[in-house]
Amino acid sequence: AAVQSLASLVDQRLADALAAVLPEREGVAADPLLRRSDRADFQANGILALAKRLGRNPRELAAEVVKRVPAGDGEVISSVEVSGPGFLNITVSDEALLSTLAERAADDRLGVPFAQRPGVTAIDYSQPNVAKEMHVGHLRSTVIGDALVKILEHRGEKVIRRHHIGDWGTQFGMLIQYLTEHPQELDHGGETGGGEDGGEAAMSRLNRLYKSSRALFDSDEGFKERARARVVSLQAGDRETLDLWHRIVDESMIYFRAVYDLLDVEIEEADVVGESAYNDMLDETCRLLEESGVAEISQGALCVFFDDIKGQDGSPVPLIVRKADGGYGYAATDLSAIRDRVGTLGADTLLYVVDARQALHFRMVFETARRAGWLHDEVRAVHLQFGTVLGKDGKPFKTRAGESVRLIDLLEEAVRRAAGVVAEKDPKLTEAEVAERAAQVGIGAVKYADLSTSMSRDYVFDLDRMVSLNGDTSVYLQYAYARIQSILRKGADRGDSVRPLAHPSLTPEPAERALALHLDEFDQTLRSVTETYEPHRLAAYLYTLASHFTTFYDQCPVLTADSEAAVQNRLFLCDLTARTLHRGMALLGIRTPARL
Ligand code: ARG
Repeated sequence: AAVQSLASLVDQRLADALAAVLPEREGVAADPLLRRSDRADFQANGILALAKRLGRNPRELAAEVVKRVPAGDGEVISSVEVSGPGFLNITVSDEALLSTLAERAADDRLGVPFAQRPGVTAIDYSQPNVAKEMHVGHLRSTVIGDALVKILEHRGEKVIRRHHIGDWGTQFGMLIQYLTEHPQELDHGGETGGGEDGGEAAMSRLNRLYKSSRALFDSDEGFKERARARVVSLQAGDRETLDLWHRIVDESMIYFRAVYDLLDVEIEEADVVGESAYNDMLDETCRLLEESGVAEISQGALCVFFDDIKGQDGSPVPLIVRKADGGYGYAATDLSAIRDRVGTLGADTLLYVVDARQALHFRMVFETARRAGWLHDEVRAVHLQFGTVLGKDGKPFKTRAGESVRLIDLLEEAVRRAAGVVAEKDPKLTEAEVAERAAQVGIGAVKYADLSTSMSRDYVFDLDRMVSLNGDTSVYLQYAYARIQSILRKGADRGDSVRPLAHPSLTPEPAERALALHLDEFDQTLRSVTETYEPHRLAAYLYTLASHFTTFYDQCPVLTADSEAAVQNRLFLCDLTARTLHRGMALLGIRTPARL
């Protein structure tokens, strides 16, 4: 069941007190501007702004407000004091603190409510390109998208996942034509007796196909012509052409699947709805745009123009929906996908987890869809732009040869590094144990490094830092979790199991208080992620949680506490911390092994 947070309980009481001192003619309510504070539990800064608005002395006004705040015995607030130029310092009662936590602990969802009016969100993420490698850009889109899906669903939102893979376009004419002329090219070549044939093998076959067909395309005019004709047959749905196209897509899916497995991300076949899926809508999309006057023919191409989008020479930059040669581009597909997602699937929010470098494309696509009425007032479309992954030199991450770095190589390297860290920490582990933990630690490290920086920012891919035990890393969080599990195990072994309630008669130590107040903020944190689509807020919350736990653990012995009651309270805090860490990490797609 939903649990009201202490912050919201306090906020309500302050808002009421503020309303009571507000003269009647002041229509607008005043925000107490409550936040956590180290001096007391909370500080409210809203009186300063209100005093200014009313032309009053802030300290006097604060004193009036204080008189109207219910505080003392039996109240949520135990004390409230004026400080500084007119701030309020607020302390909540021990009973309120402990009973709120007990309610959270009693609930499977840790007191996090479902959204009152959940909507339907279509989220476009993890969209690699067929017959091509996956690179760090696809990492970002996959990891951020996966976390958002989990967090939104946790709040009860209906989520439609769309992996808009690049599986259509002129390059397929070239690949397919080459295959018809060299039918053995994708054969599994008797390499193994039909046994394990992994993702890497599939990718290397595709690479070979890509390279050879490209070479021919660039050198042989006749082939180029045949490849162009092949695109036309593909778009027209020619049977033999489609069969070959399917083989290429399937081969790529084998590879993507291998990367997703390593990345520990679940991608459902049914949600892989690539560019090709909209092929049948493209004609109609263009016709509707043209008929409504949203798009016009310019130099043979079907274009949409914008007053405020101009190139460097001042001439307008249009969105090209259909090229002069009749071919449809990326924009026609995206516009058709909007019609499908809103018109057919009923989405009221469209999210696109895509590289910031595509910002102009999405701006033009959204504006076009608005003009055409496909995006109406009730629908929100948001391009969640992510920044670039940089190498240690601060430049976009490339290999020495200047190619983009293969995602799979990075992931494998991360797992290898993590194996070193894990084995060093516990030399008694078997090889299999090291391998299992290394996967959870290494992949967790990569995901966390990505999710803990604000998504619009670039970040440096630095594996040494990512797998470090100290600092803002997933390994630090995983160790905090494993340490708690070890305490709980030891407690259980000697008969001290976690009880559902803390002892209200014990005054919490400052470190216990800080931990408890932070635990109570979990729900608020998740809500803010669903409002801003910024998973780094959850990562930051979890890091602070682990830090509070570390301080608590330093200052407050758990199993050797002075009294049985203190042992119980501390075990209770340990347990709730572990469950919150576990849930939070799971929502980011990161494992929390019970032992490390
Ligand atoms: N396949 C594209 C890429 O790798 C990303 C697709 C983004 N989604 C979209 N609806 N356009 O860059």
